[in-house]
Amino acid sequence: MLPEPLRWTGEGLSLLDQRRLPFVVEHRLCRTVEQVAWSIENMVVRGAPAIGVAAAYAMALAAREGMPLETAAKRLASTRPTAVNLFWALKRMEIVASRCRGNLFGPLLAEAEAIHDEDIACNRSLGRCGQALLPRESTVITHCNAGALATSGYGTALGVLRAAVEAGKTVTVFADETRPRLQGSRLTAWELRQDGFDVTVITDGMSGPLMRTRPVDAVLVGADRIAANGDVANKIGTYNLAVVAVRHGVPFYVAAPLSTVDASLERGESIPIEERDGNEIRSIDGTALIPADFPVWNPAFDVTPAELVTAIITEAGVLYPPYGPALRDALKKAGLPEKGA
Ligand code: MRU
Repeated sequence: MLPEPLRWTGEGLSLLDQRRLPFVVEHRLCRTVEQVAWSIENMVVRGAPAIGVAAAYAMALAAREGMPLETAAKRLASTRPTAVNLFWALKRMEIVASRCRGNLFGPLLAEAEAIHDEDIACNRSLGRCGQALLPRESTVITHCNAGALATSGYGTALGVLRAAVEAGKTVTVFADETRPRLQGSRLTAWELRQDGFDVTVITDGMSGPLMRTRPVDAVLVGADRIAANGDVANKIGTYNLAVVAVRHGVPFYVAAPLSTVDASLERGESIPIEERDGNEIRSIDGTALIPADFPVWNPAFDVTPAELVTAIITEAGVLYPPYGPALRDALKKAGLPEKGA
């Protein structure tokens, strides 16, 4: 069964509270822009595409609560800086608003629903394209959660795994724990187990020994932002995994919709990397792991250089290096901005 991270109800946006999984399945109803913004900041809803969809619904809420759309967009844009899907979705909502007169709630809600539906369709075609890369019996390592929970309900990296199973393949998954927020052990393992996958949790430092001692067919991850040259920002720890994969000759695949490509940035160095509160490292669920005055560094994402990426799986097909022209071509065919968002 596929979890649904977000759903529009007549009252507002209902979010599956991802902070409480896997032990508690609870939903939070957001009736205001501020409630959605808070939920994005605090990772009630997370994952690049899901953040974009949530922000789109929040713009409809802004129209309903009579908040100026510019103020709402500014607040939502301030929540998390790395995933470009957030800014992409806000831009789509602004375009609709600029074309309409009168009450904007209806048109904005319709656009948010369209973004939501398109994301699922896009994940499914991305999954179909990507599954062809996996052998009939595959062992795959994944990092963070790029699944149903991170999207509108099917997944990018995990969507590829789902599509492989739908194509009759057998897939064994190792899920990196993903420190510090544990999206791998808490979310990926939970959603894959619900779906009947054979999934084993490992800590982030175990992927190297795993690749050294067992046959691993692929490393498959999602992305928060992809620069025009194919450099990939994703959850912290992705870069280490890519380096180890290349060292062991294991293909390193990135699965992401074209809305994750930011053609306005030439290289990954320009991608803004979110730094989060150090207490995420110092404690887990309120239990201190180290004293409060121990210095920590907590970047939420890292950048994997394009040269380590074997292929980028998109809804428009599988792209191979050199990524500059491949991404440009794919964006052009999809009618998306090739330069400067
Ligand atoms: O901090 P998060 O949990 O929002 O980070 C999520 C990731 O890094 C995912 O891999 C990425 O957003 C792709 S989701 C399809």
